[in-house]
Amino acid sequence: MPFPSDRRTFLKTGAAVLGALAVPPHLVGALASRRGRAAADVSIDVLTAEPIAPVTSAHYGHFIEHLGAVIYDGVWVGEKSSVPNVGGIRKSLVDDLRALTPGIVRWPGGCFADSYRWTDGIGPKAKRPRRSNLWGNEMEGSVTGPQRYEPNHFGTPEFLRFCRLVGAEPYLAVNGRGASAQDFAEWVEYCNSPKGSTTLADQRAADGSPAPYNVKYWGLGNEPWGCGGTLTPEEYAEEYRRMSAFVPTYPGDKPSIKVGVEPRLVAAGPLIDDATAEAWTRRFIDSLKTAGRNGHDTTMPFGYSLHSYFWRHDAFTFTPNGWYTLLAQPRILGGMLERQASLLRPAGVPITLVLDEWGPWYLGDIGQSQPSHLLEQTPTLRDALVTAFMFDTFHAHADILGVATVAQTINCIHSLFLADGAKYVRTPVYHAFALYQPHIGGTAVRTVAAAERIEIPKDPNARPTRVPDPTSVDGISTSATVHAAAGGQPGRVVLTVTNPRLDSPVTANIALHGVSIKSGTVTTLTHNEPHARNTFDNPDVVHTGGTTALALGSESSKGAFTMTLPAASVTRVVCTLGA
Ligand code: AHR
Repeated sequence: MPFPSDRRTFLKTGAAVLGALAVPPHLVGALASRRGRAAADVSIDVLTAEPIAPVTSAHYGHFIEHLGAVIYDGVWVGEKSSVPNVGGIRKSLVDDLRALTPGIVRWPGGCFADSYRWTDGIGPKAKRPRRSNLWGNEMEGSVTGPQRYEPNHFGTPEFLRFCRLVGAEPYLAVNGRGASAQDFAEWVEYCNSPKGSTTLADQRAADGSPAPYNVKYWGLGNEPWGCGGTLTPEEYAEEYRRMSAFVPTYPGDKPSIKVGVEPRLVAAGPLIDDATAEAWTRRFIDSLKTAGRNGHDTTMPFGYSLHSYFWRHDAFTFTPNGWYTLLAQPRILGGMLERQASLLRPAGVPITLVLDEWGPWYLGDIGQSQPSHLLEQTPTLRDALVTAFMFDTFHAHADILGVATVAQTINCIHSLFLADGAKYVRTPVYHAFALYQPHIGGTAVRTVAAAERIEIPKDPNARPTRVPDPTSVDGISTSATVHAAAGGQPGRVVLTVTNPRLDSPVTANIALHGVSIKSGTVTTLTHNEPHARNTFDNPDVVHTGGTTALALGSESSKGAFTMTLPAASVTRVVCTLGA
């Protein structure tokens, strides 16, 4: 099948096929109240009295690594740069990220973390050592500069300043391949020991922060089964035990999110598209449980890191098969999260899942702006819809998933921003993050969407990926958060709905059970060209439309309304609730 670029051809080759409609038994009563209402393509029931868990800014976290042009020149342009900066950090990135209220940022890798000496990145910049970046081997021979030879100009003090600027908690990934438990303890000491208390506290003061940073989140290793040393789960459990024993704590260490010890240690789990993922977790947990020899208990992790990438070959020349196949992945991931949680819970410790790398990873045809921008890809409207499906999955699993950090914020994989020197653009992924931002701070509640599944059209030319392709995808994706009345503001329900159909809008009967709606607003992200993307030359091709008033009918006092969702769109509805 050729790669059709205009929408007409695209749709002809990919007319969605309808599958079976399933109504969950426990909703038969709720749905019975719909009798007599206008026929709709889909119905969405928001069960406002069935909370799942709070949606926090930690579900909307970020990951930045010394990989290609993520740090140099995505985040760090240098104090002397003509690119507007805040002490060397790209100003437009700071401004845009801060507005998204990211809860957490992970750094310095990724695989880079497993070869990183944290002490290289402190002290006067002119004296910091230069090292070979492990990702440099992946680059073409002609590439030199900071992407290949790490200058360490962006180290711990710069990263922690970046977190303060954007308002996020830092999450530091410790070298699981080369660092000793002593190195780790000293990194904690540098970041968290009280002002004037230790030599490392004095070094931190000389680097710009006499006050401790109180870093809470520490990942012990990155991918121990891969670039972290190709360890077995048992070998990694031993490393974890060594690193996690007697981690120093300081007076400023205070619990802030959910459960766990301070500092909050995150153990490294598997890549969860892999058939061995469940075995890894089972063996790791078994191994941790058999520890505690000599009368000391193992420090159980606060979190368990999972990585999930959706592999495709077609960043922006995809067919309908590529469109729907990608959109099917977040639901599959949801099932994997549940299975991972079910393996951890019987272990008797409240470990939260930490999805600290996620995003579609395109293997070809990626729109990289320069060879040094390793793993940079240009997101399209499809990536905005994948992001929406992902966030709906996060909300549905907020009881087991505590943290998610996207890979990666700028110039790499599923980026919100692309930058090259003075050039800078917000991608469709950014617009999906912005659209979903009002969910933060609410409580996710159960939603049930009754929509016909879409059978995925076949593409004989599709190149095989790591995992078998699904054959159908949800006909709608949705999630909702309830925000209690506070500070004189009335209560709200924030609802997001994605129509993945390329060929048609859908009419949705929506019922917010147990509440009445006083008024509402509607904001939609869509484009009539599925491959649409933002580039340096055309930065505003994909963006959200204006916000309009929600049209309410006679049933709004019962929390019900009907709306039309354009083809290939994400829509946010914010309902202000009546008394
Ligand atoms: O995000 C890119 C890489 O993907 C990370 O360095 C590694 O952890 C993963 O394999």
